Amino acid sequence: MSATTSGDVGRLKDSVERHMIRYSSAFAPYFGTKARGTYIYDENGREILDFCSGQMCATLGHNHPAVVEAIEQSCRDAIHLFSGLLSPPVVRLAEELGAILPAALQKMMFVSTGAESNEVALRMAKLKTGGFEILALTGSWHGMTAAASSSTYNGGRAGYGPAAAGTTAIPGPNCYRCPIKHCRDKCDMTCLDVGFGLYDSQSVGAPAAVIVEPIQSSAGIIVPPDGYFVRLKALCDQRGFLLILDEAQTGLGRTGTNFAFEQLGVVPNILTLSKTLGNGVPMAAAVTSDEIEAECFEKKFLFYTSHVSDPLPAAVGLAVLRVLRDENLAERAAETGRYFMDGLRAMQQRYECIGDVRGRGLLIGLEIVKDRHTRQADRPLAHKVQQLCLDMGLVLHAVRADAQSAIRIAPPLTVSKAELDKGIEIIDAAFRRALDS
Ligand SMILES: Cc1ncc(COP(=O)(O)O)c(C=O)c1O
Repeated sequence: MSATTSGDVGRLKDSVERHMIRYSSAFAPYFGTKARGTYIYDENGREILDFCSGQMCATLGHNHPAVVEAIEQSCRDAIHLFSGLLSPPVVRLAEELGAILPAALQKMMFVSTGAESNEVALRMAKLKTGGFEILALTGSWHGMTAAASSSTYNGGRAGYGPAAAGTTAIPGPNCYRCPIKHCRDKCDMTCLDVGFGLYDSQSVGAPAAVIVEPIQSSAGIIVPPDGYFVRLKALCDQRGFLLILDEAQTGLGRTGTNFAFEQLGVVPNILTLSKTLGNGVPMAAAVTSDEIEAECFEKKFLFYTSHVSDPLPAAVGLAVLRVLRDENLAERAAETGRYFMDGLRAMQQRYECIGDVRGRGLLIGLEIVKDRHTRQADRPLAHKVQQLCLDMGLVLHAVRADAQSAIRIAPPLTVSKAELDKGIEIIDAAFRRALDS
């Protein structure tokens, strides 16, 4: 692909308009022709720092040699098998993932995408509990398949008919912009009590699951207050809900521990992993307890796809786990995250429009506001900064959630301090230019 000529590029750009379905607001204005480590390259060979790890997946950096080797080895062994046929990479992955998970999370299955892993979790929760009521937080993103999108409250719901019966949103714990206008900065979790109170008054007595991200990423890196998940789990247990934690983005080192739930004081009934498990190769997992698995099996649990338990993505997942361990990536994310956050907080002192800097490890959000007192969102400025960064060779994302104006920054966990410094320089220059013009 890197050998693409300028003639080819012109023709391909015309073909975009002729052939591609526009599945979001706009395509990036360049082609990605190569990706290595923390960088992606456009059709002119321009080097662009990727502080979004692709689509928040490539935590080891792009095309990590261990991932390339796993793919090559799978090409020599087996890429794909029929769905009921297990292979050594699949079982080894289960063993090695099991070794870093608690005793209550030892049964797992491997599918392709985050949405699918949440479909598995939601189907198991419904079968186990016999209920069908599902709660999720406002601002959530759990994927685009039917049940996952029914529990995604991040815009994009209009025009597709009814969501799954029994799905309900409760207010997300946004300490910066309290969803129930109750407090400012110091969340006392009234939002959680209000949400469950609303549920109680609507319920037909069929609780199944509450599905939550440990940090709401697409909502703008919303970090719930300390103690939130302990209280949430207690509220779930009182009513008979299973707790599903969706660690698509937070799983496998991103927030400074192997799994974000290790910092939350709870173990979920079902854990889902995806993006970071495949480092860019479609790979996802739903993980649960022996008890839930056994009961679902007795009740004839079915979730069959063309790619469940495929050997190639499993070999990649195994490579990811080994690099995570061998290169101490979780610890490294905690340390480089602190370093980066310090740089961003220093920048916040210079720019009034940076209302908040928040996150854990290398999952970081900047809140862009018109003024710090009113906290009014400034989406145009967030988009302008994103564009200016791209012009100067850095990808970061202004999140798309309505009424939010956060910029999301999540470099690969292998990012060097020199690359972080370069990123800070570019972001600083982007704010300067955006505010001068
Ligand atoms: C927290 C979370 N869960 C699930 C998904 C869906 O994953 P996928 O796009 O692989 O289906 C996403 C995607 O952005 C996500 O951020």
